[in-house]
Amino acid sequence: MDFTAPAEVRFHHFFGTQGLVIALGRCSEPTETRYDDIMVKLIVFGATGFAGGEVIRVALKSPEVTQVTAVARRSLENATNDPRLKVLIHNNFEDYNTLSEEFRTHDAVIWALGGKVSDFPSIEEATKVTHTYATRALESIKEARGGSTPPFHFCYLSGMGADRTESQHFFFEKASRYLKGRTEKDLLTIVDGNTHPSLRLIMHRPGGILDTTSEGMRSRLRHGLSRVMRPYFIENKLVAGSLLHTATHGSQKDTLENADMIERGGLFLSSIGLQ
Ligand SMILES: NC(=O)c1ccc[n+]([C@@H]2O[C@H](COP(=O)([O-])OP(=O)(O)OC[C@H]3O[C@@H](n4cnc5c(N)ncnc54)[C@H](OP(=O)(O)O)[C@@H]3O)[C@@H](O)[C@H]2O)c1
Repeated sequence: MDFTAPAEVRFHHFFGTQGLVIALGRCSEPTETRYDDIMVKLIVFGATGFAGGEVIRVALKSPEVTQVTAVARRSLENATNDPRLKVLIHNNFEDYNTLSEEFRTHDAVIWALGGKVSDFPSIEEATKVTHTYATRALESIKEARGGSTPPFHFCYLSGMGADRTESQHFFFEKASRYLKGRTEKDLLTIVDGNTHPSLRLIMHRPGGILDTTSEGMRSRLRHGLSRVMRPYFIENKLVAGSLLHTATHGSQKDTLENADMIERGGLFLSSIGLQ
């Protein structure tokens, strides 16, 4: 990862959901490929946001992606007129009955909807958006798809330090890490611990996500991000690449840490000439 590249940091997330937790090794686990000629139709939740917006941008550069359906409560800013992009306005994220047909006809969901607890007015609201919305969506996908194959991939954007045991000590954002951890755990339960024959859940745990598409604080970053801090960050395009890599190719590993995401993201971006 080149941290000398222009980058702007979302400072509100620097020590947010991901914060200072653990140093992580690189992943060299082989990935699965589901199709000989990969052609994938994707549904993206959170497409109006920072990470989800980048997923849309990168997805539309990939010849493997034949359709991107963004499900959002408002229209997308900077939406392209690429005919592969379709936007579905959806207002009740606790009920997905109207999306059954989309769940049956697409191959994967990328879930980039949410935030850290302090982004919401209350813990109840944060819990509803983070936990209820995601678990209801996965339950609806399970119901809509029945046992159909090939497996449908649900690629969940979580955060570094997500704690499924809800017991670890954290200096920052403990409530966010617990909530993300509980959500991961309950999503895993829905797919029977990832033994479900037609559903595959892949969790992505990025550190602080850097926006490398804008100017902003790039010089501060170039000079200020020490070697010690680098394992705690990832470029937004690599987050998108990692989510798209697992949405199209799957993953034997069901939880990707920051270093894994940098590797997967790099593979995907290289395959479409963006890196
Ligand atoms: N940014 C980081 O550095 C970072 C690091 C680690 C993990 N993450 C995680 O990655 C995910 C995406 O983060 P982000 O930075 O892209 O966040 P973001 O820019 O704030 O985008 C959040 C997305 O979630 C949607 N959303 C939020 N509340 C909603 C609600 N009540 N109903 C429907 N949609 C709602 C937003 O839709 P609207 O546009 O309609 O509000 C938007 O599409 C979050 O779960 C976050 O915790 C982010």
